[in-house]
Formats: sequence, C-alpha cells, structure tokens
Amino acid sequence: MTVQTAITRLFGIEHPIVQGGMQWVARAELVAAVSNAGALGVLTALTQPSPQALREEIARVRSLTDRPFAVNLTFLPTLKPVPYEAYRDAIIESGVKIVETAGNNPAAHMPAFKAAGVKVIHKCTTPRHAQKAEQIGVDAVSIDGFECAGHVGEDDIPGLILIPATVAKVGIPVIASGGFGDARGLVAALALGAEGINMGTRFMCTRESPVHENIKRTIVANTEADTCLILRSLRNSSRVARTALARSVIEMEKAGAGIEQIGPKVAGGKGRRVYEEGDVEEGIWTVGMVQGLIHDIPSCDELVRRIVGEAETLVRGRLENLLATA
Ligand SMILES: Cc1cc2nc3c(=O)[nH]c(=O)nc-3n(C[C@H](O)[C@H](O)[C@H](O)COP(=O)(O)O)c2cc1C
Repeated sequence: MTVQTAITRLFGIEHPIVQGGMQWVARAELVAAVSNAGALGVLTALTQPSPQALREEIARVRSLTDRPFAVNLTFLPTLKPVPYEAYRDAIIESGVKIVETAGNNPAAHMPAFKAAGVKVIHKCTTPRHAQKAEQIGVDAVSIDGFECAGHVGEDDIPGLILIPATVAKVGIPVIASGGFGDARGLVAALALGAEGINMGTRFMCTRESPVHENIKRTIVANTEADTCLILRSLRNSSRVARTALARSVIEMEKAGAGIEQIGPKVAGGKGRRVYEEGDVEEGIWTVGMVQGLIHDIPSCDELVRRIVGEAETLVRGRLENLLATA
C-alpha cells in the first residue's frame, strides 16, 4: 500500500514522510537512506563549513541516491554571521529542486528560489507564520508543535491543536512536525488534516544516522520526560536532552545570565562534538519528546516500511472495526 497525498505528489516521493533538517546529523548518508526508502531526505546546509563544502555534500547525496531530496536552510540567531546568500546560491546552482527553510521568514530568498524552479517548504511554529509563508509564495509548510526537538518557538502549542489550527488557515499543504515516530502518529496527522509528517528525532535514531551509538542508545533508554527547554530567557527556546550541561544552562538563565555567558556553553561546535564523541551528559544535544516512543535503532528502510505498513493495518483494522461496531 502507498498513502498518496498532496505532499507525495508535490515532491514526487513514494510516502508522505519527510526527514527534517538536523544540524550535524542530516549528512549525505542519512539523507540518501531516507530518500532511498521512498521518503524525503533533507540535507542540512549549515552543517557544511562553507558553501563549497555544501556543493560537495550535495554531490555526495547524488552519488548515493537518484530519488528526490531537499536541502534545509535555517535562519536563526547565530554567534557567527552566516553567508546565507552564498549557501542559497550553492543549493540553486547544484540543481536542487526542493528546499526546507526554517527560523526567520525566507522572503528575501524566495525570488531566487522561484526563478530557479525550486519548491520551498517553510517550517514554522505558529499558524500566523504559516499564513505569512503562504503569502510570500512557499509551496508547503511544516508546522512544528511544542513536542518537537529544537526550536519550539515561544507559544507552546502542542501538535494536537496546532496542526488543525494551521490547516484551517492556509490553502497550501501542511506537513505535521514534532512528536511523530510511528504509524499511529502518521494516521493521526492525516486525520488532523496534514498531508504528511516530518520527523527529526526518529530519523536521528536509525542505523544510517551518523551520531555516536551512545546518543542512539540514550534515546532508546530515555522517556518522553527526559527533555528540557534551554534559551527560553533569550526568546530562542530550544528543546534538548535533559543533560547535566543543559540543566546548568537553565540554572544560569534563572540567575539572569545573558548571551555572553550562556553563548560559549551552547556553541555549535560543542554540539557537534557530542554527536561525534558520544559524551551524552556533558553536551547539549537536540532531541524531542517522541524519544519516549522510540525503542529501537532500525535502518531507514525498515522504519519507513514499518510506519506505512502499520498505518494500513491501523486504518483497515482498528479504525474500520470501530466503525463496524459503532
Ligand atoms: C539533532 C537535531 C538537529 C536539528 N537541527 C535542525 C536544524 O538545523 N534546522 C531545522 O530547521 N530544524 C532542526 N531540527 C528540527 C527537525 O528538523 C524537526 O523539525 C524536529 O525534529 C521535529 O520534531 P521531532 O524530533 O519530534 O520529530 C533538528 C532536530 C534534531 C533532532
């Protein structure tokens, strides 16, 4: 069975499943594995140290898959300025046809993307931002609920409310994001009016994910309660694993510390080392509440097949039976 939706048709993919951009994680191997499984792999542009390195990484994805894939470009406050235009041009000149933007409004980049025939998914955390994105011409929105890993926004609305609220406000396809990891989530998202799901944490805990085994094993062991929000005091809230370092950052925030003191603790390079070296307690690493529903480390192919297969069983079994006995 395949579930066909506006998202599968828009991007020419087999299943309505997207792998969200993930800093330090969404490298060529993972992206290609997701795309080869019939979902949409998304390479993270800023994981690459320069636009030229991004061109080479895009070429590496192409050497590993001939299926559609996307590149994520995230506009968020950073300690070092980022040459966004040069990254954008590297994406366009490499012939990539799908981009996931996130963070700030991508309006400044839309003319260049549209002129090159690039389809844009904008990921945001409020229906208001989704409407704005539609107005500037994006092709689809991903709406990230409060459950999600990473930048949750400041409104704290969970997916159960946020997804239908967004679907009601926009005419373009909506991808449900945050808290999705299995068939139950996919079926629920479709019931809420979304055209597919976006998963970060679940794809981070797969065989092809390049993070250290300690991180994957910790995700399997952790419960839904083992995340926390850092940088709330800076209005840049981020959901991360509740590690010793994350707890110390929250204590600093409570004591009134500013970006000068907190910045060095959460700097990007440190995050990268955790994924490479696997020191789960002494780092800051991004993870969502859905870790409580993750119990194994499958290949991307096994994972996508399982989600789609179990979704069919769920719809034809449990849901249809409920109707029959009503
Ligand atoms: C390790 C990790 C790194 C992430 N980095 C980014 C990023 O650089 N840009 C971005 O737009 N989203 C990023 N995200 C968010 C994901 O793309 C996605 O929106 C989120 O994981 C969805 O929530 P889930 O983890 O519950 O599936 C990251 C998520 C994870 C787990």
